[in-house]
Amino acid sequence: MIPEVLLLDLNKQVTIERNNHAVYSAMSALLDTGNLPNLARFMAKQAEGEWSHAKKLVDYITDRGGVAFFDGLAAVETSNDGAVFYFELALNLERSTTDALKLLHRESEAMDQQTAVFLQWYLMEQVEEVKTVEEVVDCFHRSVNLGDQWVDAWMKNYLTS
Ligand SMILES: [Fe+2]
Ligand SMILES: [Fe+2]
Repeated sequence: MIPEVLLLDLNKQVTIERNNHAVYSAMSALLDTGNLPNLARFMAKQAEGEWSHAKKLVDYITDRGGVAFFDGLAAVETSNDGAVFYFELALNLERSTTDALKLLHRESEAMDQQTAVFLQWYLMEQVEEVKTVEEVVDCFHRSVNLGDQWVDAWMKNYLTS
């Protein structure tokens, strides 16, 4: 059995991953409405990844004889400041997720070795997650005069490369 305190914190991570899924899904829909189909597709792909992160945690908790919680989620922020708003939001989300996972991993090292090993996958996954969103935010900053449609076209290539 996973120690009770650690189980509670693993469940908090389930909520973080489910929240990431909800935020990416909402941003995908909003970008699609804004006629930016490739940026929307990027967000939809991220949302799928987040769902699999949540599912993997739920399965792990269950396999170890624990109970996974499905808490309510907060409403998703919207903005009229252009698509870059959503990508900067995504970058903050990924960075704070990394911080949360680092804390959780440190806690698990002291309490439960198997959970510590399990969480290593998440720590390494975050390297890619942060890097990918950083690349898109960089593209927005470099092409600030070209507009969202230009970044959407850039994304079309990015998604197939
Ligand atoms: Fe995630
Ligand atoms: Fe992520």
